[in-house]
Amino acid sequence: MRIILFAGKGGVGKTSVAAATGISAAESGRRTLVMSLDIAHSLSDIFALKRNLMDQNRGKPLKVRRNLWIQELDVQEEIEKNWKDIHRYISTLFNTTGLDEVLAEELAILPGMEEVSLLLYINRYVKEEEYDAIVLDCAPTGESLRFISIPTTLEWYIRKIFKLERALARYVGPVASRLYDVPVPGDDYFDAIAYLFERLEGVDKVLTDPEVTTVRLVTNPEKIVLKETQRAFMYFCLYKMSVDGIVMNRVLPKDLNDEYFKGWKEDQARYMESARDYFNPIPIFTVHLYRGEVLGYESLRSLAQEIYGDRNPLDRFFSSEPYSLTKKDGEYHLTMKLPFVAREDIQIDKLGDELVIRIGTVKRHMVLPRQVMASKSVRAKLKGQRLSIHFKGDKHEGEERKREPKR
Ligand SMILES: Nc1ncnc2c1ncn2[C@@H]1O[C@H](COP(=O)(O)OP(=O)(O)OP(=O)(O)O)[C@@H](O)[C@H]1O
Ligand SMILES: [Mg+2]
Repeated sequence: MRIILFAGKGGVGKTSVAAATGISAAESGRRTLVMSLDIAHSLSDIFALKRNLMDQNRGKPLKVRRNLWIQELDVQEEIEKNWKDIHRYISTLFNTTGLDEVLAEELAILPGMEEVSLLLYINRYVKEEEYDAIVLDCAPTGESLRFISIPTTLEWYIRKIFKLERALARYVGPVASRLYDVPVPGDDYFDAIAYLFERLEGVDKVLTDPEVTTVRLVTNPEKIVLKETQRAFMYFCLYKMSVDGIVMNRVLPKDLNDEYFKGWKEDQARYMESARDYFNPIPIFTVHLYRGEVLGYESLRSLAQEIYGDRNPLDRFFSSEPYSLTKKDGEYHLTMKLPFVAREDIQIDKLGDELVIRIGTVKRHMVLPRQVMASKSVRAKLKGQRLSIHFKGDKHEGEERKREPKR
């Protein structure tokens, strides 16, 4: 099983490149599903499918060719299936606050529901082995970052908050609901959440296993787009996902000698050069700017040909371990590849058995082995693209040392 995520800034060509990759994988004989979270449903447009075909399919996979399926999630369908009890409680809650019922229902769509629904599918497909490859057409960077942070956030929530909330609702709930006149979630709500977690079990391992999942960043040779690509790259590293390729889309063709494009071509050449510096040794696949939009099977096929040539699109084009935890002389070292961050942007805290790494507004909780977190001091150093965290002297050893002088 192979999962490839295509991520990048809005409009850079993610859906086109994802669809092209799906076509190429399917033609090489692998059962391939191209999935999209995009509510604009551009996947069906790109394959030039009739809209009603997709609508009738209500978010289920649709076979478009031999070995090739596409799936566009239908949020309303997913809520019906996975979130009924949770959604019901939240909309009642909003409703009691005086909101109109229809509006309350709309608002009760929690951020993240779509992403969690997608994770549920991925987990199911991996377990059922229905497909050999899943190609994910991600939402623009910001949202896809939320997507990749969900497994760790959920794990944290269930460990720290869920049990507490459930106990609170059980013991304090009846009093609270009398005092404050708000509905307190009942067992249906908590059971639904627990069941959801059960079905998500293991999906974080799938996404962070570089043998299974890799990320390809789609970008353009432009200043702002490249900046965002660098940032996305760093966040994927933070969440332990492997980036195995950069797709540089919309490069002006070499033989375009029009005076009008001269300055543009020079800029592009410069940005391409700096992209090679940034991302080296991760391979960069270039795609030229087409004469028109890339629509329909044949255009996508030629796009795939330009990206991959004779290579298998499902190969892993680059492998490196984003994290490593080693032990040397009884002390632990955690090294993490975090390109494109400055020292002042990183904040590290130790909270019980977890390490909280904050970079700008993004935060990641990392649960580390008990022996590591028992260390008395944590020191971090940023060297080039590597953040290394040194855990010094565990409590036990410290106590030994303290006792020594007495002997
Ligand atoms: N190399 C290219 N040459 C010409 N047109 C292109 C190229 N790549 C993509 N396009 C066109 O650019 C438009 C946007 O592409 P696409 O929908 O794949 O981007 P996206 O990153 O998925 O956008 P969004 O963030 O909105 O989902 C489409 O009309 C597509 O046909
Ligand atoms: Mg898209």
